[in-house]
Amino acid sequence: MKKILDLISAEVTKAFTECGYDEKYGKVTLSNRPDLCEYQCNGAMAAAKEYKKAPFLIADEVAAKLSGSAMFSLAESVKPGFLNLKLDNAYLAGYLQEMKNDPKRFGCETDKNPRLIMLDYGGPNVAKPLHVGHLRSAVIGESIKRLGRFLGHNMIGDVHLGDWGLQMGLIITELRERKPNLPYFDEHYEGSYPEEAPFTITELEEIYPTASAKSKEQASYKEAAMQATYELQQGRRGYQALLAHILNVSVTDLKRNYENLNVSFDLWKGESDAQPFIPDMVQKMKDDGYAYISEGALVVDVKEETDTKEIPPCMILKSDGASLYNTTDLATFVWRMKDYHPDEIIYIVDKRQELYFTQVFRCAKKTGIVGAGTELKFLGFGTMNGKDGKPFKTREGGVMRLESLLSEINEEMYKKISDNHTMDEAEARKTAKIVGLSAVKYGDLSNQASKDYIFDIDRFTSFEGNTGPYILYTIVRIKSILAKYKALGKTAEGAKILPAKSESEKGLMLELTGFAAAMEAAFADAAPHRVCAYIYGLANALNHFYHETKILTEEDETVQAGYICLLELTRGVLETCIDVLGFSAPERM
Ligand code: ARG
Repeated sequence: MKKILDLISAEVTKAFTECGYDEKYGKVTLSNRPDLCEYQCNGAMAAAKEYKKAPFLIADEVAAKLSGSAMFSLAESVKPGFLNLKLDNAYLAGYLQEMKNDPKRFGCETDKNPRLIMLDYGGPNVAKPLHVGHLRSAVIGESIKRLGRFLGHNMIGDVHLGDWGLQMGLIITELRERKPNLPYFDEHYEGSYPEEAPFTITELEEIYPTASAKSKEQASYKEAAMQATYELQQGRRGYQALLAHILNVSVTDLKRNYENLNVSFDLWKGESDAQPFIPDMVQKMKDDGYAYISEGALVVDVKEETDTKEIPPCMILKSDGASLYNTTDLATFVWRMKDYHPDEIIYIVDKRQELYFTQVFRCAKKTGIVGAGTELKFLGFGTMNGKDGKPFKTREGGVMRLESLLSEINEEMYKKISDNHTMDEAEARKTAKIVGLSAVKYGDLSNQASKDYIFDIDRFTSFEGNTGPYILYTIVRIKSILAKYKALGKTAEGAKILPAKSESEKGLMLELTGFAAAMEAAFADAAPHRVCAYIYGLANALNHFYHETKILTEEDETVQAGYICLLELTRGVLETCIDVLGFSAPERM
């Protein structure tokens, strides 16, 4: 289905050309004076220059042409030369009915040139619990993935686990101190290793911080951890087997956590998967003359003439030959290109890593690891702050685990929901979880990703204002009307959306027409906040209509069935949007 603005622009363009003016003047936009009109065209103002004619004369001619159009109830010229437009109510109803006849996509077409887009998001580190810092990447990345899929793109999400480097050596060292007799530490052991991991997730999450603290106090402990890391990276059998256990236990736990967030990944690759590609990659960078030794380290220059600030070289190997975070990200490109050849890779990572990604992207492009056909995009997000404006912490000042944050929200939601006494405990708990997730996700996604925001439980969980629970409340309101209508023994099957009879009804209808444009714009800018802004406007319009209109007591059955159709469409559009944002609505709340 064509987008409403395109249809209107085509109609106005036709009028311009019929009056002898160039088609480029027919572009229509949403009105910036909604008190006067719904849409406007400023083309006559620009055309005046080319045709050396007063703008209002041109606008008058075009308005006269449009007077016969069934699309508009108003097409008037106003001085000095604007065209003010209002849609005809029957035309609008017809457009919405067409949207409704397409019950999954509501007229939003898929992209004619579907692309293969990889998303690097999540980025958790194994053996460490997910904390609030991981929330944004997961929530934003998931939404962009869903948005892209809705528009027909092949979106592949990769969690890119942090499973390489010193943290692994630390865990191995600590385990060795605790359980030295395990076969993993016996260099002469040739048998197969146990299938069961020698630790649980709870132990693992305790082992890492313990080891990390020890390494800061004892130089010898750190030395041992570095040695273990080195041996692991050199392929020591027992350590490789331990790494597999660590991954297994950790990933099982991570999956459970992400599931609670309604976030899922197509690929569970990690930094360690990139390691096999490092030697050849480095060799080629040297052979091609890109990599050179600088102060002992192997580096590639990435500065460009147009830079306004200093972009340091990208470091490939440290002076001791060890690989770095950079090396891993570069080698990750190697398998992503080989296995998927994506049109684009988007990284959803804390914006403090922006300079780092500039270096890595430039290095990948310059050395030819990533060809011209693949776009690389860094989508940096801001920090989630507490009410004090500083990075969000627990009351004790520590890093808050994601699980704790979610249970705090759920508890708050549970209190609110059980206040209305109509639900039993089990349903209230279940509902609290659904609504709580909307509070967290919408609270995050409704902000432009690159900005910092304040995590404010009271505001996020409110049923009023620009919040997830408000959106869900609106959907539940519609569901409840639809259920009551059905309970009256009625059905709107076969009925149609009718021309609006009031301003509030028309307001709702106009909001609905903006669905496809909102989805496309949000995807083009990788900006889920635009979906939020769209549904906030739509929810407001729905509630305004609801307050102004007797729906269930309407006596004219045809009129009433028309309202029901309009509500069904609104519900469908809202539910599609929240699904793209990564949450869902309960039956009641
Ligand atoms: N694990 C990293 C961290 O916790 C984030 C990974 C981001 N993705 C990447 N390809 N480097 O900071």
